[in-house]
Amino acid sequence: MTTSNHDTIVVLDYGSQYSQLIARRVREANVFCELFSWSTPAETILALKPRGFILSGGPNSVYDHGAPTLPDYVLASGLPVLGICYGMQLLAHGRGGRVASSLKREYGPATLQINEPDNPLFKDWRLESDAEPNSQQVWMSHGDKVEHLPPGFRPLAHTDNSPFAAAADVDRRYYAVQFHPEVVHTPQGRLVLSNFVHHVCGCASDWTPANFIEEQVTAVREQVGNGRVVLGLSGGVDSAVAAALIHKAIGSQLVCIFVDHGLLRQGEAAQVVATFQREQGMKLVAVNAVEEYLESLAGITDPEQKRRIIGEKFVRIFEREANKLGQIDFLAQGTIYPDVIESAGKDKKDAHVIKTHHNVGGLPEDMDFELVEPLRLLFKDEVRQIGTALGLPDSLVWRQPFPGPGLAIRCLGEITWERLERLRLADDIFVSELRQANMLRQDTQQSFAVLLPVKSVGVMGDGRTYQEVIALRAVTTEDFMTADWARLPYDLLARVSRRIVNEVEGVNRVVLDITSKPPGTIEWE
Ligand code: XMP
Repeated sequence: MTTSNHDTIVVLDYGSQYSQLIARRVREANVFCELFSWSTPAETILALKPRGFILSGGPNSVYDHGAPTLPDYVLASGLPVLGICYGMQLLAHGRGGRVASSLKREYGPATLQINEPDNPLFKDWRLESDAEPNSQQVWMSHGDKVEHLPPGFRPLAHTDNSPFAAAADVDRRYYAVQFHPEVVHTPQGRLVLSNFVHHVCGCASDWTPANFIEEQVTAVREQVGNGRVVLGLSGGVDSAVAAALIHKAIGSQLVCIFVDHGLLRQGEAAQVVATFQREQGMKLVAVNAVEEYLESLAGITDPEQKRRIIGEKFVRIFEREANKLGQIDFLAQGTIYPDVIESAGKDKKDAHVIKTHHNVGGLPEDMDFELVEPLRLLFKDEVRQIGTALGLPDSLVWRQPFPGPGLAIRCLGEITWERLERLRLADDIFVSELRQANMLRQDTQQSFAVLLPVKSVGVMGDGRTYQEVIALRAVTTEDFMTADWARLPYDLLARVSRRIVNEVEGVNRVVLDITSKPPGTIEWE
C-alpha cells in the first residue's frame, strides 16, 4: 500500500515487549507509524520519508557486548527523536552523557515531578491533584539509568529514583523519557506520544478510518485493474473486513472462497455462508474439504508441521477452485500487521520466529497468485474500526480472533474427527457460558477450549474412567502480543467444568490455564 501521502513516524524496535504498543499509540493519535528493527537498512527507513523517530525500550544495557546501537542516519537526518527507556540511554550515551549501569531494576509505578510543565511534551496534561500540581504517575521498567545528561540536554522531569526521568535537547528536538508512555499504567502517556508527533514533529492527524478506506479502495482498484480476485473467507474479522473493503473497491470482480476444512468452531461453517452469501451479497463459493484435510493431517502432531500443511493445502484448494472459475489473477488475504511482525517477515531479520502464522509464513513459494492484502499495515483495533466504518455488523466486527489453522492448533496431538468434535463441543459450552454472562468483550478478548494429548483417571458413577483433558484458556489483552489470563468468576468456571465433563463424551477433567504471555503464548501450539 502507498503511505507516502501520510506524515510518517518510524519506531525503531530495540526488543521491548511494548514496541508494538508505541506504534499503536501513535496511530491512535491519527498519525501513521511503522515499526522496524533497529538494524533495518537506512534506505528502507529513509524511503518512508519519516517526520520523526521513536526509539523503543529494550532488554540490553548500552554497555553490553554487541548491544544494539543507534544507527548514524537517525541523528544525521536532523529529524526529531524520542528515546524511550533503552532508547533514552542510547541517545544519552551516544551524545556524551553517562549511563549508570545497574543490576537492580526499577519496575512499577513512580511519581513523576515535572520541572518544565510548559514543555510541548507535557501539553494538555491533566495533572494529578491541586495539592501536587506538577506530579503524575508513570510506569518504570529499567535497570540502567542516565546519570549525566549530554551537552545541550536539560532535565524536564524527575522521580525519586531517576533524576532525569524526562529530558530534552529542545533546539535539536531530541527528547527522552525513562518511563514508558505507551503502557496504560502511565495514564498521560498517550499524550506524551501524541504531543511528540504533533507538536515536536509537526505531523498532521491524517491517519483516519475514512482516509484509509478511500486510499485502499483506490489502491486495490489500481493494483487489480480489470483482473479478478479470490479471497479466502474464514469467517474471522480480518478476512471479513478485507472482503468488505475489496468488495467496495471492485464489486463482483471479487469472488470469495470459503474452505470448510473441518477445523472450525461449532456452527461456524453454516454461519459464514449465511452471512456473506445472503446478507452481504458477495459472490461466494463454499468448498467442503473436510476429508481432504483430515487425510493430510493424519498422524501429524508437530504444530509447525500442522500449520505448514494447512497453509499449503489452503492455497492448493484455492488454486483448484479458482481454476474452475476461469481466469483469476489475485489472491486477497486478511493479513494484519501483528501477523507480519510476529512471523519475522523479510524486514525483521533478527526477530525470533515464535510461530509461523499460516496466512503469512506458511505460504508456499511457488504460489501463482499475486497477493492483495489491504489490511497488512493495520493493528486489530484498526481493522475493527474499518469494519464498522464499512457497515459490517457488530457481531462480526467484535468477534474474537480465531487462528487461521483453526482447531488444529487447539487439538494437541493427533487430529481426528472424533477429537475435533470433542473439542468443538467443549469449546461451544465454554464460549456460550461466557456469552451468556456477557463476558466476551470487556472481560476476555480471546477464550477457547484446548484438547490436551493426555488422559487422566476419573470416576463417574461407580466406574473408573480414563479419558482426555480439556484446558480452558481465556485471556485479557490489548494487542495479542502480550496478554494476561482472565480472572473469570469461580461460579462460571464451575458451571463450565461441570457441563463439559457431563456433556462431552471422552472428557473427564477440565483445567484452567493461568499463564500470561509472555512467557506463555495465547494458543497452546
Ligand atoms: P499466540 O499463540 O502467538 O497468538 O500468542 C497470538 C494471536 O495470534 C493468533 N494465532 C494465529 N493466527 N494463524 C493465525 O491466523 C496462526 O497460525 C496463528 N497462531 C496464533 C492467536 O489466536 C492469537 O489471537
